[in-house]
Amino acid sequence: MCGIIGCVSDRPVAKTLLDGLRRVEYRGYDSAGMVTESGGRLLVRKGAGRVSEIEEKQRLSELPGDVGMAHTRWATHGGVTDRNAHPHLSCDGLVAVVHNGIIENYLELKKELSGSGHKFRSQTDTEVISHLIEVEYRRTKDPLKATTAAMGRLKGQYAIAVMFSDRPGTITGARKDAPLIIGVGDGTMFIASDVLAFIEHTDRTVFLDNKEAAVVTRDGYRLYTAGGREVRRRPTQVAWELSDLSKADFAHYTLKEISEQPQTVVSAALQDSKTLGEFAGLVKRAEPLFITGSGTSYHAGLLMKSRLNREAGIACEAIISGELKEHAGFFGRGSVVVALSQSGETADVLEAVKRAKKKGAKVLSIVNAAGSTLARESDAVLLLNCGPEVGVAATKSFTAQVVVANLVVDSVLGGRPGQGVAEVSQAVRGALGTEAEVKRLASKYARAPDFYFVARGYQTPVALEGALKLKELSYVHAEGMAASELKHGTLALIEKGTPVVVINPSGESHAESLSSAEELRARGADVIGVSDKADEVYTHTIKVQRVPRKLMPVVEVVPLQLLAYHAAVVRKNDPDYPRNLAKSVTVK
Ligand code: F6R
Repeated sequence: MCGIIGCVSDRPVAKTLLDGLRRVEYRGYDSAGMVTESGGRLLVRKGAGRVSEIEEKQRLSELPGDVGMAHTRWATHGGVTDRNAHPHLSCDGLVAVVHNGIIENYLELKKELSGSGHKFRSQTDTEVISHLIEVEYRRTKDPLKATTAAMGRLKGQYAIAVMFSDRPGTITGARKDAPLIIGVGDGTMFIASDVLAFIEHTDRTVFLDNKEAAVVTRDGYRLYTAGGREVRRRPTQVAWELSDLSKADFAHYTLKEISEQPQTVVSAALQDSKTLGEFAGLVKRAEPLFITGSGTSYHAGLLMKSRLNREAGIACEAIISGELKEHAGFFGRGSVVVALSQSGETADVLEAVKRAKKKGAKVLSIVNAAGSTLARESDAVLLLNCGPEVGVAATKSFTAQVVVANLVVDSVLGGRPGQGVAEVSQAVRGALGTEAEVKRLASKYARAPDFYFVARGYQTPVALEGALKLKELSYVHAEGMAASELKHGTLALIEKGTPVVVINPSGESHAESLSSAEELRARGADVIGVSDKADEVYTHTIKVQRVPRKLMPVVEVVPLQLLAYHAAVVRKNDPDYPRNLAKSVTVK
């Protein structure tokens, strides 16, 4: 959940680090800091706040030195304070550490280290790593040995980068259950949590495998197992274009990413037919089949499950990744887990698939980040091809997931995968055309204390997704549910003017959902219908174009994304960086 970037160069690195830090700020944005080495000393500047605020106050970009590391934090252990910001130094400033993850045994280690005289300055779990590595470095006089020795003592998840004041030009790194990637540039080497951190400088990357360590110097990199055995791995090229990373003319990344969907749904449909066929074949033969994901990705999984159940007659369950362990008794040879994830680094998802794999299940993933841990640990992978998603709220990755999941189901059914996508792209463009109207609704309802989203059958996950988007971007309490559930409790909460979005395309449940809308109106609700068919029962209608039923959610979700975005703007929230959240949830 934190972002790391380290850089060893033949020229000053502070500006490069700051640019990289801005690119990984989506991973956590409550504090930030930087360390560089100059004249045999580690120089640290850090504080609580957004990267831009800390730069303004402390001029990170003016730190001297050709080697350095920077960090943006999403607090887990220890509050959001200047002291708790990374980097963390050992007692005498010999070692500096930046860390993404959670050290589970930090209290035990802290006690041991305090007992031998180490003085701690922060409340973080990370600081124990600096002291631990200092102890090992004094013993071994070797940065790699000190790093791997610390790996042997740390329990939990981590990606760390480490500098030593008396080893200019060297950064060591290590990872366990959190991503760490090396960038091989021209005269400059990088180590980071995400390729986005350095893609401006190089697209040649080396992904560390789990429980590996690295030594990065100006001349190159070396990889090692946690036991210290050298591993050879050549760089691979990543395809993402730097231009994908600008906001272009949009006020926020979130709005840009929502607006990209007419193109991204088309690129999501461009899959290799052999891989798709193999993926679908495994789904068909699975016994049993589970679909998993967290948050928005879980909602896309629910849509996949619905079609597999109803149209392909395949019994399967979609389970929230953090809860999949409850079903572990069903994993074994023959079982398959389909995991959906934008980042491919969500800890709950990784944990779920690890458990399933251990018991012999096959893991198939639908993922955006090609080199991510999930992609690399899967038996088959379909990529979302929607480009980097920087806004913390998942938008274009959701619609891409729905498109890819549909291709799989079409392939299972022996149909023509990808059919209808051009039409959907047009309809998404049409749905973007509702923005002015949606903006008006956002102004009217952004201060409502509660919002409800209801739908039936295949559309129900869209209601869940609409509510999730509104909660995370606008901080308005929102609930999504099956319309059939209203009368079992929630109707009691409906008062005059309560906004309720009813997602109601023409087709099989249309009449029933209209009745729900009537019931809501009768109790005073303002009903916002999202439909291809206007009806006078709706207080407001957001008209979307009809497309084949299976792809209707891709169109319907767009005005809901816009509603959440504009409600956030009305409430003066930063839609790209909602409070308390981070894009890549790499902690359990
Ligand atoms: C919601 C959102 C989150 C993610 C969830 C899973 O807008 O972004 O709910 O969908 O954290 O993330 P991935 O898909 O990266 O596994």
